[in-house]
Formats: sequence, C-alpha cells, structure tokens
Amino acid sequence: MLLLLILSFWGPAVLTSGQVRPLYGTPRKTFTLSSNRGHVFREEGVWNYSTMLLREDIGVLILGAREAIFALDLANITHKKSMVKWEVTPEMRKTCSNKGKNLATECQNYIRILHKMPDGRMYVCGTNAFIPTCDYMSYTDGILALEGKQLDGKGKCPFDPVQRYASELVDGELYSATFMNFLGSEPVVMRSLNDTIRTDFLTSWLNEPIFIGMKHVAEGKENPQGDDDKIYLFFSETAVEYDSYTKLEVSRVARVCKGDVGGQRTLQKKWTSFLKARLDCPLPQTKLPFLMQDVFLFCPGDWTTCVFYGVFTPQMDMSQYSAVCAYRIEDITEVFSEGKFKTLHNENSIPKWVTYHGDVPDPRPGACINNDARQKGFSKSLDLPDKTLQFIKDRPLMDQAVKPPSQQPLLVKKGAAFTCIVVASTTALDGSIHQVMFIGTASGSVLKAVDYNGNMVIIEEVHLFKHSEPVKILRLSTTMGQLYAGSEVAAVQMPLSTCDHYTSCMDCVLARDPYCGWDLISNSCIAINSARPDTHGEVVQSLRDGNATRCPAVESTKTIKLFHPGNMVRLLCQPGSNLARVQWRVNDHPVENSNMYHIQHNTLFILNASDSDTGHYTCTSVESSNGKDYVTKIATYELRLWNIQMDASVQPQVQEQRNTLLALQAVVTILMLVLVALVTWNFYKGHITIARCFNKTEESPRSMSSY
Ligand SMILES: *[C@@H]1O[C@H](CO)[C@@H](O)[C@H](O)[C@H]1NC(C)=O
Ligand SMILES: *[C@@H]1O[C@H](CO)[C@@H](O)[C@H](O)[C@H]1NC(C)=O
Ligand SMILES: *[C@@H]1O[C@H](CO)[C@@H](O)[C@H](O)[C@H]1NC(C)=O
Repeated sequence: MLLLLILSFWGPAVLTSGQVRPLYGTPRKTFTLSSNRGHVFREEGVWNYSTMLLREDIGVLILGAREAIFALDLANITHKKSMVKWEVTPEMRKTCSNKGKNLATECQNYIRILHKMPDGRMYVCGTNAFIPTCDYMSYTDGILALEGKQLDGKGKCPFDPVQRYASELVDGELYSATFMNFLGSEPVVMRSLNDTIRTDFLTSWLNEPIFIGMKHVAEGKENPQGDDDKIYLFFSETAVEYDSYTKLEVSRVARVCKGDVGGQRTLQKKWTSFLKARLDCPLPQTKLPFLMQDVFLFCPGDWTTCVFYGVFTPQMDMSQYSAVCAYRIEDITEVFSEGKFKTLHNENSIPKWVTYHGDVPDPRPGACINNDARQKGFSKSLDLPDKTLQFIKDRPLMDQAVKPPSQQPLLVKKGAAFTCIVVASTTALDGSIHQVMFIGTASGSVLKAVDYNGNMVIIEEVHLFKHSEPVKILRLSTTMGQLYAGSEVAAVQMPLSTCDHYTSCMDCVLARDPYCGWDLISNSCIAINSARPDTHGEVVQSLRDGNATRCPAVESTKTIKLFHPGNMVRLLCQPGSNLARVQWRVNDHPVENSNMYHIQHNTLFILNASDSDTGHYTCTSVESSNGKDYVTKIATYELRLWNIQMDASVQPQVQEQRNTLLALQAVVTILMLVLVALVTWNFYKGHITIARCFNKTEESPRSMSSY
C-alpha cells in the first residue's frame, strides 16, 4: 500500500476586496526570546536588574542591580566577565530600619546611577539604605572594582528605591533630577561633581514631580547663533495652570543650558536657564492628559534633526491604551526661545496662572548665552541683569505646550502599558532609511514597530521575561545590533532582527521588517545589511506597500488522514500571522461552525465523522496588506475512511506524520525502481511479453497506492 505525500503548488492569490483589515495595534507575529536568539542573565540571589550602562568601547554591559554591579559580555550577556558587590553594612541597615523603613526591601543598596567619566572610569550611585552614596568604579584587565570613596549622593541619587529619577553625565559633570531629602519632599534638578548648581525650592519650578528622563543635546558646536548645549529633562508633575478641583498631572519638558553657572545676586547657584513647558500627547476621547513614562533621543544627523520619542500611559483611567508621541527639537526650541510665558495673576485674591502680556526684559529670561548676548556684554550667566533673573525665577513655565507634529501620536495600542522605548535606524534595500521603535511593556514583552508614511506596522511582539515581569529598562547597541532589557528578575539581550524565523517569501515580505528581505536565490529570509550587494537584485522587500506579488509559488503539503467512523477528527492549520484569518473548505465548499464542524483558532474539529465526511479539506490563511488580500494555502488534507483491509502496521495517527510518509514513500520508490529494473531485465531477456509487462506495471501501483 502506498501513501503518497503530495506537494502541490499554489501561487499567492491576490484579491482586491480588502475585506480583511489589519487589526489595529496587533503585532503581526508573536515570538519568544529563545526563538529570537536571545540570551538571559540572572545571578542567584540578586534582584532588580534595572540600571544599565553600555560600554561599547570596552565590549561590556555594566548592569546595576540590588547590592551588585556586573560587567557582562556585550555579545552574550550570559557570559559574566566580572562582578562587584556593594552591600549595606548591618549597622546602616539597622539605622535605616529604625527610621521606619522596611528592612528587607528599602534598607538595601539599589544601584541607580551608572555613567562613564571622560577618563574611562565610571560614576556609580546607590540608594544605600536611604543614605544615597556615590563612588568611582573601574574596569581594568577584566576586573570590575569600586574605589570605596563613599561620596555624598544627595541630589544625585534617590533615597527611596521606588522613586523615579533621571541623570546624565556631560563633560565630567553630573546632571541629576531627584529628591534630595529623606522625606522625599525636596525635588531638585542639579548639576554637580564640580560646582553645584540647582533648581530653587519653589512649586512653580517643580511641583511634586516624577522624573522620567534626561538627555543632552550638543548643539553648542554647531549652532549658528553661538547658542549653548542643552540638557533636556522630561517629567510629570501636578499642574498649576488649570482650574481643577482634583489634582491633575501633566507631562513636562524642561531644559537648562550647559554653560549656566547661576546668577550673581539673584539666583545664586541656581539655574538661570530653567524653562519648562507642557508636553502634550493628544489622544481623542481621553479626558485627562496621558503621562510620559520614558523618553529616547534619536538624532539621525546634526542636532536640528533630533527627535524625542516618548511612551505615554493614561492617568487614573482604566482605558488600557498606551501611546508613542515624537517631538521635534525645533518645536521645543521654538516654544522656549520665542514663546510667551505664563505668570501668576491674582484675580479677586484667587491666584491663577495666565498668559503674560507685559514687557519681557532683554536679554530674554531663560535664554542661554549666545552671540547676541555676548555682543551686549553678557558672556556668562553671572553677568545677567537682575531684571532678567527675577523674571525667570517667577515665571519658569511657558504659555504654549509642546505638541507632536500633526498633533497626534505615532502609535496607540490597547493592552499592556508601555514602559520604555528605544529607536534604531536602518537602511532598507532601496536605500530608504527607517526608524524602528522597540517598546517595552508592563507584561514583559517588547514590540517592534515602524511607521511607513503614517501607516504604523507592529512587526512583532517578543516575550522577554517569564511571569509577565515588566520591562524596566531598554538599551540599544547599534554597533552590536542588539537590544538589552532589564527587569526585576533578569536581564536579557536579543538581536534587532531575526530574519530567519520567517520561513516563506510571503511571510518574510508581509512582515515589512526593514532589516529583512527574501533572497530568491537562497530561498531564505536574509538580513539586509549582511546581504551581498551583487545579490540584491534577487532580494524582495516591500516595506511601504507590503506587496508580496513577486514571491514565487508556495508549496503546501497534502496529508492523507484516515478515520474510524463515529470518531472526532482534528485537522490543524497554523495561520500565517496574528493578522491572518484561517478559512476552511471541504470539497470546495466553505466550512462553517455547525453541529458537524467546530472551528477553533487553528483547528478544525469534525464531530462524529462519518462516511459522508470523506474528501478534500483545505485551509487557507488570508492576510491583508495595503488593501490587498494575500491568500496562502497552508494545508490540504484528504480524509478517508479507515479500511480494515489496509496494512495494519500503518496506524491512522501515524499517517499524519510527514516523516513516516516520506520514509514510506522512499521505500516504495526503491521497490518500484527494483520492480522496473526486474521487469526491464525480464523484458530484455524476453521472459515476458509487452502486454504482460503493461499489465504488471499498471497493476502494481494500483494495488499498493491510494493516490
Ligand atoms: C526588586 O525586585 C523584587 C523581586 O522581583 C520586587 O519585589 C521589588 O519590588 C523590587 N524592588 C524595587 C525597589 O524595584
Ligand atoms: C553565552 O555564554 C554562556 C556563558 O559563558 C555560554 O555557556 C553560552 O554557550 C554562550 N552562548 C553563545 C551563543 O555564545
Ligand atoms: C569646574 O568649575 C570651575 C569654576 O567654576 C571651572 O573653571 C572648570 O572649568 C570646571 N570644570 C569642569 C570640568 O567643568
């Protein structure tokens, strides 16, 4: 008996009906970390892997956790190169506990700050049982070592491990945003290590802030007006500018100038350039502003091309929507350098923040020292007149809000809250450049998304951490082509793309992953950057259109399946992606849920199968891309009644297995070849006549095969 595995060839059917719309905000594919060639790092007894410093210059990832710092191989973070412990002493732990803090959770040293110094050493701070402390750390000859300096970390590092903070190290000076007292009532934005300069303790400057991120934009060297480098701070705080009975939180962007050294009399040792503005991520149908959770600075060219990408989640609302908004630096600059100010106005003795319409002193309050100011004789912030300084001390808030271009988010998605974001840039096959967003979520996954002319595609979702541990930090290494993520339980890494998990041309092209293309010669989904230029003519990529019509015909397997009458038959069909729909047909008639059939996700159940259920079953996966429906035949089954006369050694369950079928096919082929050889030999020898020969060859396959 011969059971043949038939390979049938199907071309990609293209319909133009557009019936199947991509599900908005659904990742096209779902992968696990291991299927994406990820690596995991975890040290026994160590938790809270939430601080990272990429040291591409020495090939290590510095990972800060609770009471420990690790140096991990950037190429494979499972490989621990060195580690150093920084533990709280028992006495300090006791003191901390006596002050009412939790011994097991709060009275520990959580590493919070890790920066590279200009001399190659690192600056590191930890919460240190509510006595924030900093130190220098080196990595030499593969050994990580702390210097044991015990430097005061107040204003640099939070006291409280659950408090959010932000920091940046620029030209050997530390810029930090945190609370500088034990009670957490004194928020501060500070520059330290050399001379200390900070914000004033005024609610008009910082009002119960939650610090999110800090970014340095080095425009000083390139600015035609001789303007200074800026340090941008992103945070949310309780709004002062609304008439509201309830506390309303808003997101803010603030900035200071790198050269700011404070004022002479007014604002001594305080920022003279601290300006802030509301940051909007406008979503229709939401009452309360969304709040920023993380920010990434992306600059494809000089500073004027910089864009801040932020992830936002709702406040006090269970809508489960998250959003990504992007802000151009020119829009932020415009608000700060040309916009109106807000001022506190007493109306019937009720204080209210309103637009300031009066005269603005010169030099403009909050402006950095630029060529214009230098010409007027103000070469540093110490030279600024009191009028300018008093103005900005009282009015650090801009009237206008910063909004994203086209007044809308880049991406809105329902589901697990977004927690962090990094953005990579890559060159596609046609030379076009695309920004690829990697968004961490509260359910432990990372989304990979690209915007193609306003059409947002979520290429994939990768589950990074078990038990839905939230992603706490994301770092990107473009030189390694790797993404690093941290959570409370582990740190992981994965490549920016894993093209070879797309196994068919259509799957590879419909993925619209700018890193991947289908190579028609090697018949595989290859990484575009590593593709040889001379083969590029044979590589298919269609990012904007998701057009897979150039894909060659696809093979679909046909399986013969036998069943006993009265049993339930299960037929499997894996849809091509999360965006695809599965359609079943029997003998060319559509199959629908009924008392005979039950269709469940990727399985068709034939209940109480009988004689009448024999025939051809086909399953197709329909995926819509740019208004076209791409239909792929995934599986074909021929369902037959189990026949007692059939070879008893072949069980119906086994027949499903392709390998067994292939083996059988091979055996039968060999037998047939032997038979043909025998017949030919006999014929040649004249043992049999032509007529008998035909009889024989016609009979043999018939009796054996059930084609
Ligand atoms: C540290 O990790 C533990 C274990 O996951 C978690 O319960 C705790 O909340 C984390 N602590 C901080 C301060 O993040
Ligand atoms: C990564 O490093 C670990 C530990 O050194 C090692 O066991 C593993 O084989 C490495 N994996 C790869 C893919 O290099
Ligand atoms: C430290 O401050 C002094 C005086 O304000 C200044 O001259 C020096 O350049 C600063 N050092 C650095 C590294 O910025």
